[in-house]
Amino acid sequence: MIKPITAIVLSALFSTVSGLATAQDLASFHAGMGGCTACHGTNAVTAANVPDDEIDLNNKCMACHGDYKKLADKTKHFDPHASHLSDRSPINCTACHTAHAKPKLVCNDCHTFDLKMPFSDAPESAKWDATIDDEAVAAAEKSAPRETVDVLVIGAGSAGLNAAIAAKRAGAKVVLLEKHSFAGGNSMLAAGGYNAVGTPQQAKKGIKDTVDQYVKDTMKGGRGKNDPKLVQILAEGSADGVKWLEDMGADLSDVKRSGGAAVDRTHRPHGGMSVGPHIVDVLRAQATKEGVGARVNSRAVKLLLDKDYKIAGAIVHGKHSGYYKIAAKAVVLATGGYGQNKQMIAFYRPTFKDMTSSNNVTSTGDGITMALNIGASMTDIDWVQAHPTVGLDSRILISETVRGVGAVMVNINGERFVNELTTRDRASDAILHQPQKRAWLVFDSNLYKSAKMVQGYDHLGMLKKADTLAELAKICDMDAKTLEKTASDYNKFRKAGKDEAFGRPDMPLGIEKAPFYAVAVAPGIHHTMGGVAITPESEVLDIQSRPIPGLYAAGEVTGGVHGFNRLGGNAIADTVVFGRRSGEHAAAYALKAK
Ligand code: FAD
Ligand code: SIN
Repeated sequence: MIKPITAIVLSALFSTVSGLATAQDLASFHAGMGGCTACHGTNAVTAANVPDDEIDLNNKCMACHGDYKKLADKTKHFDPHASHLSDRSPINCTACHTAHAKPKLVCNDCHTFDLKMPFSDAPESAKWDATIDDEAVAAAEKSAPRETVDVLVIGAGSAGLNAAIAAKRAGAKVVLLEKHSFAGGNSMLAAGGYNAVGTPQQAKKGIKDTVDQYVKDTMKGGRGKNDPKLVQILAEGSADGVKWLEDMGADLSDVKRSGGAAVDRTHRPHGGMSVGPHIVDVLRAQATKEGVGARVNSRAVKLLLDKDYKIAGAIVHGKHSGYYKIAAKAVVLATGGYGQNKQMIAFYRPTFKDMTSSNNVTSTGDGITMALNIGASMTDIDWVQAHPTVGLDSRILISETVRGVGAVMVNINGERFVNELTTRDRASDAILHQPQKRAWLVFDSNLYKSAKMVQGYDHLGMLKKADTLAELAKICDMDAKTLEKTASDYNKFRKAGKDEAFGRPDMPLGIEKAPFYAVAVAPGIHHTMGGVAITPESEVLDIQSRPIPGLYAAGEVTGGVHGFNRLGGNAIADTVVFGRRSGEHAAAYALKAK
């Protein structure tokens, strides 16, 4: 079980403030501090006068309470404002601290913290985007556009942020929409890293790698079902994508191996930190700096075509502003996958319908639905990847990094049963054939010290720890002798440089140095490989395989890049390479069409 984080937290911070006990919600608590205009300014306060991005409100919160850093200094023991969030690109305070209703504990979308926030007893508000009002959509469609842009990017994960920046740099007028209360999507959860070939980082470590080898590994991992043209572009553009992020201030200095790769090519920040929160942070800040920051709380609900079947824009549902039309010459779909849409999973991959998912709640397949509704073609749409190591009974991914840097995987009896560095489909399959369909990752203190993310799992209470393997086995209800033998055989294979049992190609660490650790894992839905069919220029194809003029797509909403099984580290590469590409091509199309 994940450790609950108890009531130190914000309630303590606020409890000394007089008035809290009687105030019903955050707004009524602030009522005596200047009335509605203190937060809303001098505008008449109606829902429509609150901008969907809530930035003005957020600035007001920060003006009184300080930024995240200042708040973190006040809450000494646990900082709810750090982790996936940061000072560089702050997320709106109002994402959690809802003024007129019960606060929304966004962390609990993935974790299970027992976190008491001020005004937790306030009445819950209806979810503004739970349904789509067809009549309001039709009315918005008939009305004049509220805005006209060159390129409308839908979805602000890595693909969308990269697309928006690239389109803006190409000279286009761009709007970037994000339905959630902050940008990031699945991208901000990415852990293991970004695959790239031919980087200075690889050269520095003396790693011999080639574009051909990258392509070969990716095609092999995808069981040969990937579109080879897209894979070639991915591999060729991967190193330049690293540089593009580094030029914005990203740190991708560490290189390690992911499953299915012949060499180390997975790039991440120093010390083995997670890649996603870092690059999303960098991209969010850069997009804001370049004037294309995400307009949050703004969900695209329908793509619009003109009479010539060219893209004409989209209908958007704003949290406060309701339904409206944006006219656009080009649209980039960057809405991510559908790993959190239970109905779509049940339809496309019924055998996974009861599986947990590592995905952000944002991965609901909106882009696929909108594209299908205008006749787009799908490719490999039913290929869903189960990641072998999602924390048992949780939604927290235990990164492939943990195996990559040395952990072994054993079943509930303490026996290894698979090459830990095989591809995910095979590793997941192997676990599902073990008793209780689950496994343990076992490692030692050398590994614990070398990978920051492992210390993060410890912080979340996910690790079992003991001074001897026999004790660890006891805590985990494994057979002690079997676990000891497994570790001793593995250590021998490692010293001899050959895994006699399962042919694991790389054994960077042994299971040698106490204390020893274990974490319980089981497969969970992780990536939806299929999606809209695209050309190498990121144009979306219709069902007759012709590009839909003006419609582009990138990232997890697309199919074809990863085939039947994605390799670890290739999705972030995909979002950067094809995100940029889609933005550049969309801008070129839009500016030509002017
Ligand atoms: P997302 O990042 O999911 O962004 C899509 C955005 O679109 C979301 O913010 C969403 O809210 C928004 N959106 C959706 N619908 C709408 C709409 N209708 N209107 C407006 N906005 C909308 N891959 C790697 O290569 N390396 C890793 O280390 C790695 N680790 C991972 C760890 C985890 C836990 C998970 C879940 C995935 C991981 N992946 C990793 C996969 C990778 O993170 C994703 O495939 C990738 O980030 C998808 O990026 P994206 O931009 O296409 O979509
Ligand atoms: C992981 O770190 O295991 C996830 C990497 C990925 O999905 O590419």
